[in-house]
Amino acid sequence: MDSWLNLLNEWDFRIPIGSVQFLGLNLFLVNEPAAVKHLLVDGVDSYPKHPFTLWILEPLIGRAIFSVNGIEWARQRRLMDQAFQVAQLRKVFPQMGGAVTAMLARLDASVAASAGVVTVEIDQEMTVVTADVIVRTILSRPLGAAEAREVFEAFVRYQRRAGQALMLRFLRLPEQWLQRYLGRHASTIRGWIQAAIGQRMAMGVSSDLLQALIEAEDPETGSGFSEEELLDQVCFLFLAGHETSASALGMATYLLSQFPDAQQRLLQEVAVILEARPALGGNPLDPLTFDDLRQLPYGSAIFNETLRLYPPVSFFIREAAQDSELVDRRCPMRSLVTISPWVIQRHEHHWSDPDGFRPERFLADTASPQEKQWAKDAFLPFGLGPRKCPGAAFALQEALLVLAELVRRYELLPDLGHQPDLVARLTLRSRNGVRVRLRNRY
Ligand code: HEM
Repeated sequence: MDSWLNLLNEWDFRIPIGSVQFLGLNLFLVNEPAAVKHLLVDGVDSYPKHPFTLWILEPLIGRAIFSVNGIEWARQRRLMDQAFQVAQLRKVFPQMGGAVTAMLARLDASVAASAGVVTVEIDQEMTVVTADVIVRTILSRPLGAAEAREVFEAFVRYQRRAGQALMLRFLRLPEQWLQRYLGRHASTIRGWIQAAIGQRMAMGVSSDLLQALIEAEDPETGSGFSEEELLDQVCFLFLAGHETSASALGMATYLLSQFPDAQQRLLQEVAVILEARPALGGNPLDPLTFDDLRQLPYGSAIFNETLRLYPPVSFFIREAAQDSELVDRRCPMRSLVTISPWVIQRHEHHWSDPDGFRPERFLADTASPQEKQWAKDAFLPFGLGPRKCPGAAFALQEALLVLAELVRRYELLPDLGHQPDLVARLTLRSRNGVRVRLRNRY
């Protein structure tokens, strides 16, 4: 048992709330939108992140923003929001563009080496490009091929062990023993990031996310991140910034290969931008620009529909800080409360054709009023409320750039017989990879 998805049954996709006692722990699964809002938006203090979150991630990200609570979290969030404001999307666009150009060069080389059509392990390629984007954005330099291999292997091992450790924790195995089991792989990643920060600092001042994190100053306390905190945040941002986006982009490309009509419509959307270029004094062959990406509503709808069906963070866990009421149940203090985008976004009561791929439900001019409401009430791939992901706009920009540049250059074809075998650990990934075939359009 290494995936949370294996614990679900059909019934979970029909009920507003479920509860069960498991090895002496009260477990809740909350699906009802009003209750989910109550938990995530108004209940940051009454339903803080579950201690398991800190415990499972601490060897890797220390006490970074994602897993801490209360004033410790609030201060970090103020600093993080400030850093994100400084490192704006327009400013980081060239770094994203550099990583995407490098990805296209790698893919071009494989397509050229195999007579125009090639089968690609696209989730691996998406892991490389998204990690390259985040390294360039934080540290102002590309990710080298050899270091990428070493770090990804350590991440895969950490993810696998973290899933197992969580299950073993339920069985009451000693916490410290399990953390040591995780620590070995975490130290490879932390050691690499620490060295990379050192090298980057030696370069002096730069206009990257690291600089924005270093310079962030809490208006309430006047303090900034300490050296240790900075390392924790960069470790988390590296994890958050590539694992989630790689998961989403792997599944988005898979879906485009399975649904040629959606792919064609995205291609049309990109073609309209390219055709207008000469009149504006531009060259149709140039890479897409920051402003071009604002003209891809169907591309955004594809990304949203991918996040609905395959949310990279497929469950969040919180702890009830005191006795409370949830929907129609008494929720005792210390209960473990789960909110699952995977379940809510495929729930029969919130979505029509819940398992179908239909990007149109996210388009302003084609979505029904009911669908617009569901998109507000029952769509939370980035979470909700004060702890909502501050990287959502970054992720959308990156996804649009990758997908638009891919379909513009290649036809994405299915690899017949291959179906991803999904597993939910820290993020949603496929046990047997994600494969598509690429055919050159030129
Ligand atoms: C498709 C891509 C992404 C998805 C689906 C995603 C999803 C999430 C979710 C669900 C949470 C909140 C979880 C909870 O409430 O328990 C979160 C938090 C966070 N994410 Fe993302 N994320 C993505 C990309 C990114 C990127 C690219 C960055 C940074 C560059 C980022 C930075 C963060 C940070 C700093 C937090 C912690 C917020 C806090 O606790 O206050 N994420 N993300």
